[in-house]
Amino acid sequence: MNIYLKKQKLDAITSDLELKFIASKKNDYDFNVETKKIVLMLNSFKKENIRYMLSKVVRQLKNYSFKSLKISLVQKKKELDLASLVDTFLLSDYEFLKYKSEKKKQLDIYISIFDSKEDFKTLEQILSERTIVSSSVNYVRDIVNTAPYDYTPDTMAKDAKKLAKDENISCKIYGEEELEELGLNAILAVSRASVNEGKLIHLKYKPKNSKKKIVLLGKGVTYDTGGLSLKRGDGMVSMKCDKAGASLVLGIIKAISELKLNIEVHGVLGAVENMIGSDAFKPDDVIKIANKHYVEITNTDAEGRLVLADCFYYANKKIKDFDYILDFATLTGASIGAFGGFTAAILGHNQKLKTKIEKASHKSGELVGYMPFNIYMQDRLKSGVADFLNSPKDKSAAAILGAMFLEKFVEDKNKWFHFDIAGPSYRKQVWGENPYGASGYGLRLMVEFLKKYERD
Ligand code: BES
Ligand code: ZN
Ligand code: ZN
Repeated sequence: MNIYLKKQKLDAITSDLELKFIASKKNDYDFNVETKKIVLMLNSFKKENIRYMLSKVVRQLKNYSFKSLKISLVQKKKELDLASLVDTFLLSDYEFLKYKSEKKKQLDIYISIFDSKEDFKTLEQILSERTIVSSSVNYVRDIVNTAPYDYTPDTMAKDAKKLAKDENISCKIYGEEELEELGLNAILAVSRASVNEGKLIHLKYKPKNSKKKIVLLGKGVTYDTGGLSLKRGDGMVSMKCDKAGASLVLGIIKAISELKLNIEVHGVLGAVENMIGSDAFKPDDVIKIANKHYVEITNTDAEGRLVLADCFYYANKKIKDFDYILDFATLTGASIGAFGGFTAAILGHNQKLKTKIEKASHKSGELVGYMPFNIYMQDRLKSGVADFLNSPKDKSAAAILGAMFLEKFVEDKNKWFHFDIAGPSYRKQVWGENPYGASGYGLRLMVEFLKKYERD
């Protein structure tokens, strides 16, 4: 899909179809194929409602062979939010076609900006920014949707290297030998039963003269069978989604380098496959993590926290004086149960940072729900044989306990926030502008967060 801004009045633009917005009591749309007019009825012109309803129209359009559509930015003196329009068009148009033989139909969108209060340059900048953001969301979706056979830790390392072609991005890949030297035993243990070598990927985006520095960690389990604590039946289907955190970090670095944000951003990705085999790590094994904590394995399916623990250890050791460290992971099914699947669970101690994240969430429309830590559950992580265990017996509040495990590897708690994206990063249903499967969740939120942080 291509989007063009036109200075002419709507009537002067020739196209196959016209889309009109009207205020109404109900949310609905009328698609008249004969008159070639679509009327979108909205009970509110709020951004989220525009996204919610317009995405339905964009999907409907896929059933027809129309080649172009025109729309006026100013509707009866009401100016629509160009960014929301562009996001919705480009994100709802996305289809994952790698494994489909059918070709995609192309549609051109002409937006008449006649009568807009904004000048052309500003609108052009918005279009260009939102095109970068949407294509980065779609880039994340493509990675997460790719089948595990076609996307291994090595594929992720290659994708990171491709990003490093940008002059401001550098990339270091650590294979098993180097992981051993660094003492990254958790990544090694989780990936041991896989024929695909586990990797730690360190990406650095460093524009000249940047004064701010942030670290983003990503869980990149390219497939999660559960390991010897094997997932059963339907529970394993879709576990290609377990690389969503790391894929998101790749997407964020791609987006901000194209947007040329003036912040140094490090991405540390733990890329592994959690498999079964004669050399698999086992429940009852004890792993020494971060060169000091002995962790008793009680469930090999709680592997994400182990991989991330090594990422924290690596980041603390190798990256100096950062302002924040945020981790993104499809960590627990419990976070889906708590918030219904469309919302990421977030946990952290810094209230100011929490407010910043919530503001970015509100601005981007990507939902977050805060979960509280509490000291009463600390005992659940205690182990009889080691310093602590990786998966408590009591499975209630598993999303909070996942974060409490990670907390043990965080050096400065004030700098940290955890995002459990198990729900919103992959859904087996269409929702708003998001397709079946991977959503690319978190990218828009993080771009808002980083844009604001650059200005602060
Ligand atoms: N990758 C899963 C979490 C997950 C579940 C992601 C559903 C996406 C959808 C994770 O590794 C896992 O299996 N977590 C366990 C943790 C438990 C053993 C403490 C879970 O959620 O059951
Ligand atoms: Zn698991
Ligand atoms: Zn997992």
